[in-house]
Amino acid sequence: MGKKEKLDEIRKRMNEDKSLPLRSGATQLVFGDGNPETDILCVGEGPGYFEDQKGLPFVGNAGKLLDQLLEGAGMTRKNDVYITNVVHHRPPENRDPHPQEIASYGVYLDEIIETIDPEVIITLGRFSMNKFLPSAKISRIHGQEQVCSFKGREVIVVPMYHPAAALRSSEVMLQEREDFANLPNILAKIRNKKDASDEQKSVGEQMQLV
Ligand code: URA
Repeated sequence: MGKKEKLDEIRKRMNEDKSLPLRSGATQLVFGDGNPETDILCVGEGPGYFEDQKGLPFVGNAGKLLDQLLEGAGMTRKNDVYITNVVHHRPPENRDPHPQEIASYGVYLDEIIETIDPEVIITLGRFSMNKFLPSAKISRIHGQEQVCSFKGREVIVVPMYHPAAALRSSEVMLQEREDFANLPNILAKIRNKKDASDEQKSVGEQMQLV
C-alpha cells in the first residue's frame, strides 16, 4: 500500500471512530493536506473555524501566513510538506485541546507520522512541540533543530511558534520570519548529514561483500 492509500485508510478509521472526544462539536474531520511523499511533516494544534468548515488544516489567517512562511523558505504546501494537527476535530470556541483529547487523537497522529516517516518534523506551537519535547520551552528553542526519538527512530524536530501567535504579536512575528528564513540552512545541514551517513553505510555494505 502506498502512503496516500495508507493515509486514506487511517482517515476512514478516524471518520468511523465514534469515541473521538471532539467530534460531536465539529462539522467534520480535518485530517491533513500536502504531499504524502515528502520528508517534512508540519504538525499544528487543531482546526479552527475555517478548517472545520473546509475540512483542511491551516486555511484561515494563520494558514495563509504559514503558506507565506513556507514559500519564503522555498517550499509549497502542495509539493514540499505534509500538514496535520495534534487534534483533528475543532475544539469548542477554539479552546486549547485537553491532555485526554490529545492522547485520543495521538493514537492516529502516531500512525500518520509512521506513514509519512519524515526526516524533519516542524512543530507549530507548544502542543505539538510538547509531543516530542515534553518539558521544552518554545521561547528558548524556537527555530533550532532538536534530535528526538519517535518510536525508536531518530527524527529532527524544528519547533516553531504557532503562526496564530505571530499574528497576535509583532515580536513573535519577527522571530517567526527569522526562523522560517533559516529553515533552508537547517534542512541543507540535515540532508548533507543524511547523505554522508547513507554513503558510509553503503561503503560498509560493499566492504562486507569483498
Ligand atoms: N491552527 C492549527 O493549529 N491548525 C489548523 O489547522 C489551523 C489553525
